[in-house]
Amino acid sequence: MSELSVDHLLGIKNLSTEDINLIFQTADQFKEVINRPIRKVPSLRDITIANLFFENSTRTRLSFELAEKRLSADTVNFSASSSSVSKGETLIDTVNNILSMKVDMVVMRHPNPGAAVFLSQNVDSTIVNAGDGAHEHPTQALLDAFSMREKHNDLKGKKVVIVGDILHSRVALSNIFCLQKLGAEVRVCGPTTLIPKYIHTLGVEVSHNLQESLEWCDVANMLRVQHERQDIKYFPSVREYTQQFGLTLPMLDSLKKDITIMHPGPINRGVEITSEVADSDYSIILNQVENGVAIRMAVLYLLASKKKMNFKG
Ligand code: CP
Repeated sequence: MSELSVDHLLGIKNLSTEDINLIFQTADQFKEVINRPIRKVPSLRDITIANLFFENSTRTRLSFELAEKRLSADTVNFSASSSSVSKGETLIDTVNNILSMKVDMVVMRHPNPGAAVFLSQNVDSTIVNAGDGAHEHPTQALLDAFSMREKHNDLKGKKVVIVGDILHSRVALSNIFCLQKLGAEVRVCGPTTLIPKYIHTLGVEVSHNLQESLEWCDVANMLRVQHERQDIKYFPSVREYTQQFGLTLPMLDSLKKDITIMHPGPINRGVEITSEVADSDYSIILNQVENGVAIRMAVLYLLASKKKMNFKG
């Protein structure tokens, strides 16, 4: 297979396992490119990509921008806070105005779940979802699984626990879809109030015991508590949350095996994970960030080649 089955990257749910493996094989090649002295290829020369961020971001935004530059694309960046959105312009009008300046592809982060799907149905451009509310964050899940694959080779049969605020997490949902498509077993762990009631229908196990989940898993993906998406208190205090679901080095050292610790960032050091763990040999957090550029290069390249955009190959 040399072509994606989709025209946009809106989520992992509608990708096939073959799509994911094609993205990984392409990212393997781009990872080699970005580790060369000359880190640039001409593949997307003369293609213009707009990065529309209606919500804050450090990693995803810079990673997409670097991926675009490494592929020789032209880029324009848009922040909602400094745009005419604050004057009442709609999302469709905003994007159509940007597209009329001969933009070929749109990368968008938006606080509303479904915003990327909505855009793909209402404007004439290729859309890449860089995170839509608590719905999906497909490139994060791809870079997470790619990083696990580097460490553990085949993910088939591997046990992965996702710990923390599952209820408000787009990373959790995209990871569940991605890992299951690659044959991994997935468990979620956190306080009852932060685990969606329907989650078992996705075929994941549920646990409220971190120590027991660490004993079960090969990989633990630690998530931040997303206070900004919470309108009520889901647990009595941050201190209590940390006592029950915060990961410490003694917990890892007490296991009779080596497990891999991941975190999508941003980290709240001392809450869901201590600094000792984040900076330890158990952690592949910075490898995840590094792999994000290669994964995003692969996604942009494959979508552009599917649409045969003025393509340099
Ligand atoms: N992991 C992630 O999406 O980080 P940012 O919010 O900084 O992009």
